[in-house]
Amino acid sequence: MADNRPIGVFDSGIGGLTVLREIWDMVPSEGTIYFGDNGRAPYGTKSKSTIIKYSLQDMSFLEEQNVKMIVIACNTASAHAYEALKERADVPVIEVVTPGARCAARATKNGRIGIIATKGSVNSGVYKAAVEKEAPEGSQIFQQACPLFVSLAEEGWWDNEITDAVVKEYLTPLKEAGIDTLVLGCTHYPLLTPAIRKFMGDGVTLINAGKAVAEVVRKTLADGSLMSDGVNPVRAFYTSDEPELFESVASPFLGRGLPAGTKHCNIDRYSI
Ligand code: DGL
Repeated sequence: MADNRPIGVFDSGIGGLTVLREIWDMVPSEGTIYFGDNGRAPYGTKSKSTIIKYSLQDMSFLEEQNVKMIVIACNTASAHAYEALKERADVPVIEVVTPGARCAARATKNGRIGIIATKGSVNSGVYKAAVEKEAPEGSQIFQQACPLFVSLAEEGWWDNEITDAVVKEYLTPLKEAGIDTLVLGCTHYPLLTPAIRKFMGDGVTLINAGKAVAEVVRKTLADGSLMSDGVNPVRAFYTSDEPELFESVASPFLGRGLPAGTKHCNIDRYSI
């Protein structure tokens, strides 16, 4: 029997839309409810306990919408809060770190892999450990926090002189380390792909985990007999900030037009 409940997807803000669009492409008949916690973003500079608290509230809101799966479309929340969410949830929970790590491990030829992410993700060590676990023996992993990338992506400064200068500043150590694979370990970073590619050169494979995450979603739905029968799937958006603000910055991340009809959610009223 079909399960027509939607999939719940959340991020600290709009970065998770780069994952949502891959889910839409991979399983177009599935309904989705997206929550962006723009009112409390960024997560990447917060402590582990705050990120867990926020993520549990985000999940509570989505559970109230009767979702059949939770996708943590945020690397920082995945790195810090996945275990806490999995323990609490009654539905499957999908994180974004492991799929990205697997893609990087498959892509590298010289065993030198770079990871760029928020400070929170880098400091957690979770991404590095995940890549180390998947990568060929003897691989070397290099991490770099790129906190300004989130603001540049939100500002729409994806490929200009200022972005080029920031990219150079953050990525020079990785270039000098001779990496051949670079994990875009934050859901905001795919927007900066042109500037990152220009600096790193074509010899470096850039890993955007969105597609790999969408494949995990598809497989989990199939394995759990959770597929919908695709009749008018819902595509709803909620934000903890002003809906108009969300809509005005969201469409480039989504890449599929405006997320019209976004509603406000008072996330503070959800328990942890
Ligand atoms: N989307 C978040 C991530 O993937 C980054 C933005 C933030 O710091 O909240 O880590």
